[in-house]
Amino acid sequence: MVIFSVVKKETSPFDGQKPGTSGLRKKVKVFKQENYLQNFVQATFNALSVEKIKGSTIVVSGDGRYYSEEAIQIIVKMAAANGVRRIWIGQNGLLSTPAVSAVIRDRVGADGEKASGAFILTASHNPGGPHEDFGIKYNMENGGPAPEGITNKIYENTTTIKEYFIAEDLPDVDISTIGITHFGGPAGPFDVDVFDSAEDYVKLMKTIFDFEAIKKLLTCPKFTFCYDALHGVAGAYANRIFVEELSADESSLINCIPKEDFGGGHPDPNLTYAKELVARMGLGKEAPTSEPPEFGAAADGDADRNMILGKRFFVTPSDSVAIIAANAVEAIPYFSSGLKGVARSMPTSAALDVVAKNLDLKFFEVPTGWKFFGNLMDAGMCSVCGEESFGTGSDHIREKDGIWAVLAWLSILALKNKDNLAGGELVSVEDIVHSHWASYGRHYYTRYDYENVDAGAAKELMAHLVKLQSSLPEVNKIIKGVRPDVSNVVHGDEFEYKDPVDGSVSKHQGIRYLFEDGSRLIFRLSGTGSEGATIRLYIEQYEANPSKTGRNSQEALAPLVEVALHLSKMEEFTGRSSPTVIT
Ligand code: G1P
Ligand code: ZN
Repeated sequence: MVIFSVVKKETSPFDGQKPGTSGLRKKVKVFKQENYLQNFVQATFNALSVEKIKGSTIVVSGDGRYYSEEAIQIIVKMAAANGVRRIWIGQNGLLSTPAVSAVIRDRVGADGEKASGAFILTASHNPGGPHEDFGIKYNMENGGPAPEGITNKIYENTTTIKEYFIAEDLPDVDISTIGITHFGGPAGPFDVDVFDSAEDYVKLMKTIFDFEAIKKLLTCPKFTFCYDALHGVAGAYANRIFVEELSADESSLINCIPKEDFGGGHPDPNLTYAKELVARMGLGKEAPTSEPPEFGAAADGDADRNMILGKRFFVTPSDSVAIIAANAVEAIPYFSSGLKGVARSMPTSAALDVVAKNLDLKFFEVPTGWKFFGNLMDAGMCSVCGEESFGTGSDHIREKDGIWAVLAWLSILALKNKDNLAGGELVSVEDIVHSHWASYGRHYYTRYDYENVDAGAAKELMAHLVKLQSSLPEVNKIIKGVRPDVSNVVHGDEFEYKDPVDGSVSKHQGIRYLFEDGSRLIFRLSGTGSEGATIRLYIEQYEANPSKTGRNSQEALAPLVEVALHLSKMEEFTGRSSPTVIT
């Protein structure tokens, strides 16, 4: 057994180590500066309290992006030096973000131990590679992201840090081989446990869904399926679940080999970046070379996001969570005794609200970012939740879950088609969405992103929008000047949230313009970018009349878009005449 020693290293603070919506994300070259990662890791240990860290079990893994392996070796050596008892690592350093959450909550180690938290190494949907992004975030004992109280403490620590501890003579661990390696240090034994990345997650999924029912659907020759992992970590789960467990054809999987640079692509599952899937599903500019599959889905780098597609049909994430909630009790065994409540992030469309109202479910509107759902779930107040940003999930873990969302849709499709598999027409994804709109109405929805704009200009634009809200007559005058057909703004504010569980208040969570007819315009600055600022503009309009729910959404929303661009003076402030991404 190797015996290691601990050294104290002097260091000094770096600017800007403030965790954003979901951890600290920076360019790889920033992370590679001497002591940059070390400072953040020590600051995290300090914030959690060194006493709590001593003797604990901590998970370290991620989406396998460039710099992950080096980062894992550094964190292992620092954990050993700070008195951590065991480090758990997914094989090859791979664990999807939802799998990390599942591992923290459910995995029991060789000595009966449980993990108390995790460092997740990912920048989610941001590109990876030597010139792209790396990221790190800490998740707590409940499996969810550290709350703001902790991330603020981490940040404070990064501003004053003077030293960190590291076991420099601990040899690099072999993360490619499953097994436990024992070491000894000044504080006693230290183990590194490398385990199968998919085991715990697959086990959990089997307790939630009816795998037999899904298997019947996936093995029905009429039902065709395509899953695109965009070369992210979802690939490590897709083969195990869809092919090995559910007998889908291997050819159903594309880009399912995890790569450290995501094959040079942008691992974000939307109509812009999931190009290959979009083309196959018949949603590209050119006609597909073969008949599109019945069902398609994609994931982001760390597999917590999902995009759901039907044949030539896109399901908005806001509709997706509403449809899952409306069908969950019937289609998914985990929910058979009912939903505790449902929740969405503020900019997500109100499609879920209508379902909640109709089914008489508790409903919550929270700020952007998954951490706000966690408190509700821990308190037993919420079962299903989602965000417009391709995030959907439930209280089985404390992160959004890309593969879970796909299994939820497969469950709904399996239920709706249980009598058609042998003969007759299949109920399609599009049929399911249309019948949902017929019952609940449709929320036309789009999001415009202006990426990497000048940070000062973005701030000015936001300040202008807040100021404008002090006079609604002025707002309505501007609107009528551009589009007399758009209804009046009846309320304007900056969204503020008081957590019903712990009473904490989050302010400045997005600027809202609410219209008389239920339409909404929302402006927010992204909290996950690594360079400049990203302005997000969310546009929504409700249509209750079933004969009017079939319009093209960009066409239906064009008047509101025009109003939004005018009110915000988007081009004047940013110099941008069009967004970088439209979803
Ligand atoms: C974005 C999304 C948000 C999501 C977050 C993490 O954050 O908008 O819904 O929770 O990524 O995946 P933003 O960049 O808008 O702060
Ligand atoms: Zn992600």
